[in-house]
Amino acid sequence: MDRRTAVCFAILTLAMATSSAIQLQIGARDEFRKTQIITTNSPFSIALETLQKQIDYSFQRIDLLRRAMTHASFSEENNRALSILGTSIIETSVAFRYLLDDIDISSKTLNREIAEVCNVESSCAVDGMRLGLHKVLRVSHKTNSTTPAVVCGAFRAIFGAVALDSGKSDAAAKVFLNVHTRTGELAADF
Ligand SMILES: *[C@@H]1O[C@H](CO)[C@@H](O)[C@H](O)[C@H]1NC(C)=O
Repeated sequence: MDRRTAVCFAILTLAMATSSAIQLQIGARDEFRKTQIITTNSPFSIALETLQKQIDYSFQRIDLLRRAMTHASFSEENNRALSILGTSIIETSVAFRYLLDDIDISSKTLNREIAEVCNVESSCAVDGMRLGLHKVLRVSHKTNSTTPAVVCGAFRAIFGAVALDSGKSDAAAKVFLNVHTRTGELAADF
């Protein structure tokens, strides 16, 4: 082996050793995270467990539900964007359900039904309060977690989180219809 080859070889060996050391570190960190998730028994994580039973959906990625239950006043990592996805899932599932029942439904009626289910005061916050989201939701100490808009945002975010977790928006729609039917006076509609 000439000197140049030897130097190259040494560098290569060093690089490989460093990379496997980094990989080991990453592996150890992931293991640590997993253990943390499994062994955390904070009131918040217990509440998330209960919530999953209530909605009859078990998350692969619990961080998505944790985010759904985090208001923008609490942290940068919050439910705002998930709530937008959740809103369109709710609207889609209502439209789907009504059209399946009656293909001749008027656009006016359909829009009214969608607006009703998406109404913050009369529907969305009611569903959310029934699930007790105001008690689960993380908000800053200055924020009132029983405010309809706050509860509603969290309620909608659940379905955004389910869609991302399952990779299917129809799975999220199913969870919504199930929760909404169980909780509401609108149950007769569905
Ligand atoms: C929080 O909001 C709810 C609903 O809007 C209201 O009834 C309650 O009085 C508020 N609580 C405080 C401490 O402001």
